[in-house]
Amino acid sequence: MNERGTQSNIAYAICGFNDIPNQRAMGFHLMLVDEDGGYRPWPIVVVRWGKRVFAYLNKCPHTGVHLDWERNQFFDPLGMRLMCGKHGSTFELGTGRCVDGRCKGSSLTPVALTVLDGEICATGVRLVEEEDSSG
Ligand code: FES
Repeated sequence: MNERGTQSNIAYAICGFNDIPNQRAMGFHLMLVDEDGGYRPWPIVVVRWGKRVFAYLNKCPHTGVHLDWERNQFFDPLGMRLMCGKHGSTFELGTGRCVDGRCKGSSLTPVALTVLDGEICATGVRLVEEEDSSG
């Protein structure tokens, strides 16, 4: 993972824009640095839709489990919404709002992304660098 920008507004490169095929989603298990300096798991799902990218915490609002019960299987059978693999709630791609299922009316937590030089980057958070999290 690469770090770009100033200390106050770091963009953390997560993957290349082209690493996620169009109309697909990919999960990432990252590690966040808390305000108190502690580390906290930060699983996210990144959706690529044409030239746009969206990201949400990979956490179903119903029970808090990961959405992909099979690794990187995030979509409903029509490939138009995100879907929780546990009870099948579905979520709008662009808003994260649950439109059908047990958590209807609640929403996935959005994650701020930007694309810089062909890299999808997370912003507005402090992440643990890979070399820091290995030990
Ligand atoms: S845990 Fe996701 S719909 Fe129930």
